[in-house]
Amino acid sequence: MPELYRFDKSRALFERAQEMVAGGVSSQIRRAEAPVPLWFERAKNGLMWDVDGNEYVDFVQGMGPNIFGHAPDFIVDAVARDMSDGFVFAGQMELELEVTEMVQQSVPLKGPVRYASSGTEIDQLALRLARGYTGRPKYLKFEGHYHGWTDTVAFSVHPPLDRAGPFESPIAVPESGGIASGSGADIVIAPWNDLDALRAVFERHGDELACVLTEPIMCNTNCIMPRPGYMEGMRELCDRYGVLLIFDEVITGFRVALGGAQELLGVEPDLATYAKALAGGFPLSMMIGKPEIMEMLGDGRVQHGGSFNSNVMSMSAARASLKHILKNPARFYRELNARGNRLIEGLRQAGREAESDLQVQGLGSTFWTNFTTKEEIFDYRDHAENCDEERYHQFARAMLERGVRLSTNGRWHMASTHTDADVDRTIEAARSALTVI
Ligand SMILES: Cc1ncc(COP(=O)(O)O)c(C=O)c1O
Repeated sequence: MPELYRFDKSRALFERAQEMVAGGVSSQIRRAEAPVPLWFERAKNGLMWDVDGNEYVDFVQGMGPNIFGHAPDFIVDAVARDMSDGFVFAGQMELELEVTEMVQQSVPLKGPVRYASSGTEIDQLALRLARGYTGRPKYLKFEGHYHGWTDTVAFSVHPPLDRAGPFESPIAVPESGGIASGSGADIVIAPWNDLDALRAVFERHGDELACVLTEPIMCNTNCIMPRPGYMEGMRELCDRYGVLLIFDEVITGFRVALGGAQELLGVEPDLATYAKALAGGFPLSMMIGKPEIMEMLGDGRVQHGGSFNSNVMSMSAARASLKHILKNPARFYRELNARGNRLIEGLRQAGREAESDLQVQGLGSTFWTNFTTKEEIFDYRDHAENCDEERYHQFARAMLERGVRLSTNGRWHMASTHTDADVDRTIEAARSALTVI
């Protein structure tokens, strides 16, 4: 039995924070970290150190942005150099064009771009542009997909099944109190990964939809790949009904491949949004779109602004990130995926040895662990009905006590600086953790 980690200082800081920060955390999902939301002192590459002096192999990696791990030297150096000449110009700089050229070289969808700071913001922009372009009021979103926390999208991400309505025509269930009344009326919810169900939804609502907003790989629930033909079918339905197809590549972009999910799936949307890995850990988001649609942003018929849009630090980090990847993209993604796949296999093996129903699903660069007897999960309801989330929380806690930090929702993010030793240590921790939960 390994000596388990202690969290006394984190507990004391969390206690102190109760009176200063609402709930003691700045993003709700962090509250679920058990036995206590951790307080950190430092992080480098694949590792983090908390205030109690515990070292962790980190697979949260900022919930995805840190594709190179924490504080890679080449980004630290580039940003330090560039920011000494100014932070926020509310004006243009050539750096933005350099980044854009590299983006356009990498992403299959070609066209002009716009920058913002977070995934939530850029998805709002995509929805507004789609409505502006088509003149239609509604949009389609899928159960189990997350597109940020705003009123227009905070519906049916992980709804309780007893309130979610029938499988083929789900009810839009708000994720939060305080959402503007009427927001849900503009959203059509559909199950994801079922082409017949999608066809039926289009027959009922196709003419009033501005767009379909989809995660092209369902990274926010179990890391589910689309069934063969599903995305092609979605593309075809959108074309037939004059509906824009928007890929939310906030997680998949620059993570699952240089060209993101579009490259893996071979399907092209009309607009695509990016954030997380684009700037290697700095807050930057981006939308790219077909020129005839982006034109409405260009001439201001659809408005967009932001004080921090294309600030020096984020653009500098993006330039350093893209340059790093573009030196040899094939090798970068081959190595990232190979180490992730070795970890996936090691976790599965640990599960078999412990006679556990640990299930691992996804890609080398990002995947989910769950507890279910099902070999594969295909959609949100499949996940909600068959995965034991409580066991996952116990597993994450047992892993934390053994020096491995996992996300509170089940998604793992590989970083290019995770070492083979980090992977071995994680598999060993899983072997031990699975014996106690
Ligand atoms: C697919 C997807 N879209 C949008 C967002 C929102 O991004 P942000 O947290 O940067 O606002 C997230 C965040 O996890 C996401 O996973």
